[in-house]
Amino acid sequence: MRAVQVVRLDGPEAVEVNEVEEPTAGADQVLIDVEAAGVVFPDLLLTRGQYQMRPELPFLLGSEVAGTVREAPDGSGFRAGDRVAALPVLGGFATTVACSTETVFPLPDGVSFDVGAGLPMNYLTAHFVLDTRAHLQPGETVLVHGAAGGVGVACIQFAKARGATVIAVVSSAGKGEVATAAGADHWVPVEGFKDAAKELTGGQGVDIVVDPVGGDRFTDSLRSLGDDGRLAVVGFTAGDIPTVKVNRLLLNNTSVVGAGWGAYASKRPGFMHRQWDAIRDDVANGRLAPPISATYPLAEAASAIGELAERRVTGKVVIHPREH
Ligand SMILES: NC(=O)c1ccc[n+]([C@@H]2O[C@H](COP(=O)([O-])OP(=O)(O)OC[C@H]3O[C@@H](n4cnc5c(N)ncnc54)[C@H](OP(=O)(O)O)[C@@H]3O)[C@@H](O)[C@H]2O)c1
Repeated sequence: MRAVQVVRLDGPEAVEVNEVEEPTAGADQVLIDVEAAGVVFPDLLLTRGQYQMRPELPFLLGSEVAGTVREAPDGSGFRAGDRVAALPVLGGFATTVACSTETVFPLPDGVSFDVGAGLPMNYLTAHFVLDTRAHLQPGETVLVHGAAGGVGVACIQFAKARGATVIAVVSSAGKGEVATAAGADHWVPVEGFKDAAKELTGGQGVDIVVDPVGGDRFTDSLRSLGDDGRLAVVGFTAGDIPTVKVNRLLLNNTSVVGAGWGAYASKRPGFMHRQWDAIRDDVANGRLAPPISATYPLAEAASAIGELAERRVTGKVVIHPREH
């Protein structure tokens, strides 16, 4: 089969599309014929050797997919022909992938493969960040950084589905439009976002900040929080890992919470399936659905991943492994 292979750690432009052996399903694995694969930031980091997981070279790339079950173990709840979304973590940019039953999820009828391919990582992360870690309550205000990116859009949609008000922070008006289309009540530019957040909340500050970006905006994020506010640390797309002066937490009774979904879920069998059950109705009714910003054939995987590297993404980039 054809698959995207990382043969050296020189970034997205160095990935290769090669003919490799088709996988076979292990005892607890589902074999999936892939129709669409979502591109996520960790795919980019993996091409550079900058992700926490460092597979031995060469390895197959592709974290999340949607497609049709070809083979499934008895008692798994899946059978040949089922439409599914899945999180293989590696090997998803390929025509076929084998995936643990723990990370395969039924795709509701009417949800396209493109949308399905954008669900597992970012939407289960959004559920984890806002529900499990930041304890979002209806009526609260959530400020989302990197709001037109994959995690950002998922957090906007999840927060809106749970009855929150959302302030999106983005680097351009075009990205502001994407955030608004995703349901954000307001969008504000990165420059001056703290003052804008204060103004939009009548001086109170926001209840939750979702931060997949990090870098030099961190202190202003803390200053944007109201009493009992929570800042969820999700990622560092800006590159720098911020530090925090803890007196700021004491002064306003605020919390900084780490939100590392993969590490949490992988230690708790069944957790991802319970998360999927929690978002399933909103997936089925279309409230949780990544806007597809671009689709690429497998041969152009380097360009697809490059969109994330160049900060150009507005929504979800999807690869079609069966397209030439
Ligand atoms: N903690 C977890 O469990 C978890 C799970 C999934 C992903 N993540 C992490 O979350 C982060 C976001 O992932 P994503 O899929 O949403 O990525 P994405 O779609 O590429 O969006 C990232 C956003 O970050 C902003 N950004 C600021 N500086 C940037 C830079 N130098 N290069 C690229 N983007 C920059 C951009 O927004 P503006 O241009 O508007 O500033 C961009 O839209 C990544 O670090 C990823 O590893 C964490």
